[in-house]
Amino acid sequence: MNLRIKPLDDILAAAEKKSLHRSLGAFQLTMLGIGAIIGTGIFVLTAEAAQKAGPGMMASFVIAGFVCAVTALCYAELTSMVPVSGSAYTYAYAVLGELIAWAVGWALVLEYAVAASAVSVGWSNYFVGLINNVFHVQLPIALTKGIAAGGFINVPAVVIALLVTTLLVIGTSESARVNAVLVAIKIVALTAFIALSVPVMSAAPFEPFAPLGFSGIGAAAASIFFAYVGFDAVSTAAEETKNPQRNLPIGLIGSLVICTVFFLLVAAGAIGTIGAQPVFGPGGAILEPDSAAMTAACKLPENARMLVCSGEPLAFVLRQIGWPGVGNLLGLAAGIALPSVILMMLYGQTRIFFVMSRDGLLPPFLSSIHPRFKTPHVVTIITGVGVTIAAAFFPVGDLADLSNSGTLFAFLVVALGVMILRVKDPNRPRAFRAPAIWVVGPLAILGCLYLFYKLSFFTQKVFLGWAAVGFVVYFLYGYSRSQLAKKPAP
Ligand code: ALA
Repeated sequence: MNLRIKPLDDILAAAEKKSLHRSLGAFQLTMLGIGAIIGTGIFVLTAEAAQKAGPGMMASFVIAGFVCAVTALCYAELTSMVPVSGSAYTYAYAVLGELIAWAVGWALVLEYAVAASAVSVGWSNYFVGLINNVFHVQLPIALTKGIAAGGFINVPAVVIALLVTTLLVIGTSESARVNAVLVAIKIVALTAFIALSVPVMSAAPFEPFAPLGFSGIGAAAASIFFAYVGFDAVSTAAEETKNPQRNLPIGLIGSLVICTVFFLLVAAGAIGTIGAQPVFGPGGAILEPDSAAMTAACKLPENARMLVCSGEPLAFVLRQIGWPGVGNLLGLAAGIALPSVILMMLYGQTRIFFVMSRDGLLPPFLSSIHPRFKTPHVVTIITGVGVTIAAAFFPVGDLADLSNSGTLFAFLVVALGVMILRVKDPNRPRAFRAPAIWVVGPLAILGCLYLFYKLSFFTQKVFLGWAAVGFVVYFLYGYSRSQLAKKPAP
C-alpha cells in the first residue's frame, strides 16, 4: 500500500509561509505547559488513584511521571526539528505515513476531546462540594453525577462544557496573560495545600503501603497518567515560539519537572495526614472508583472521612485537618482555574481536526471559519456538543482512562518516530537531541505499552472499537480525498 509520506521539508516550508508571529519564550511556554497539566488529575483523580493503590499511589505518580519524562525527551527532539502545529499527527504524517497519521489524529480525539469531558466532570465535583460547604445546599446526586456513577445527568459538567465551547466560538482565545494568572492561582492553591499538610504528616497512614499489591500501583499509574497529560500541548505552540529549538525543549521538560515535584508533595501531604486506604465492599470486594457500588459504600457513615470517597479530595483533606476556610478557597481556585484546562483541550482538538480537514482527511466544512468571529466555529460546535454529552453521562475516572488510552498511543508513535528519523534522516539538524535515544525511546514505548496494559479491559475495548471505526472512516472517506492522493507521486 502507498504509505503517502508528507515530506518534512514540505511541512516546514508550508509552516514558514504561514509564519505566525513568534512571541512566546521559554518562560511563557513553561507556563503554557503547567496551565495544561495541572487540572482534574491532581485535584480529583488523586482519590481514584488511592482507591486503586492506597498509599502506593506515590509510586504510581513516579511511574506515570517517568513514562511522561522519557516521552517528553522524544517530543522535545521532534518539536525542535519540526516546529510546526499539529503535534503527533504532523510528525506521524512525515515519518510513518498517512495511515498512521490518521490513526494518531483519530486517537488524539480521545486525548483532547475526552479529556475536556473528564475535566468538566472534575470541575463539577469541586462546584458541588463548594455549594455544599459554603451554602450548605446538597445538590441531588441525580443531577450531579452521570448515569454510570449512580446518578442520571451531570448538570454542572454540561453547563461548564457548553460555556467553554461558546467562549471558543466567539473567539475568546486564552491570552498568555490570562493563562499566567490561572497558572498562578493553581500553583498558589497547591502550594497552600502542601504548606498546610506536609508539616503535619505522620508515617502511620503510609501503612499498609500497597494494600492491593503492585498490580494496584500499576493500575493507579495508568489512571493518574492523566494528571501529566498536557505537557505535549507545548508543542502545539511551536509556530508561535521564539527560538523554538531552544525554548520548546525547555518548555516541555521544565513544565513536566515542576508539576512532578508538586504532584509528589501533594500526594504525600494527602496520604500522610488523613490516609489513603481503599474502601472495600461487602465481603472485602474491591470496588471500582465511581461505580454505583462505590457510591453506595461511600454513603456509609464509617466511610465518610475516607479520602477515596471524596470527589474533591484536596479541599476535603484541608477541611479534615482543621483548615475548612482554606479548603473552600482551594475549591474556589479549582473552580476558577480548571475551565482553562477544558479550554486548552477543546482548543487543541479543534486545531487538530482543522489540520486534518485541511489535509483532506476530514470534510472541508470542518475547516470553515466564521465570518465575524474568525474562529473555526463548525468544528468547535460539533466537538463541544460531543464533549458535553460525554461529560453529562460518564464518570470522570472512565473518561480520564479513555483519554489516557488515546494519549498513550500518540506518545508511542512519537517515540517510534524519533528513532526512525535518527536512522532515516541522521543529518537533519537537531537543536535538541534526546540523550541516549536507544535507551530513552524503547523505555518510552515499553512504558506506554505497560500503562495501556494496566488500563481496564473496558477502556481497552472502547479504544479498539474507536480505532476500528477510525479505519472504516479513513477508507470510506479520507483515503481517496486526501490532498496527498491528489498530488502526483514524487
Ligand atoms: N493533566 C490535565 C488534568 O489533569 C489534563 O486535568
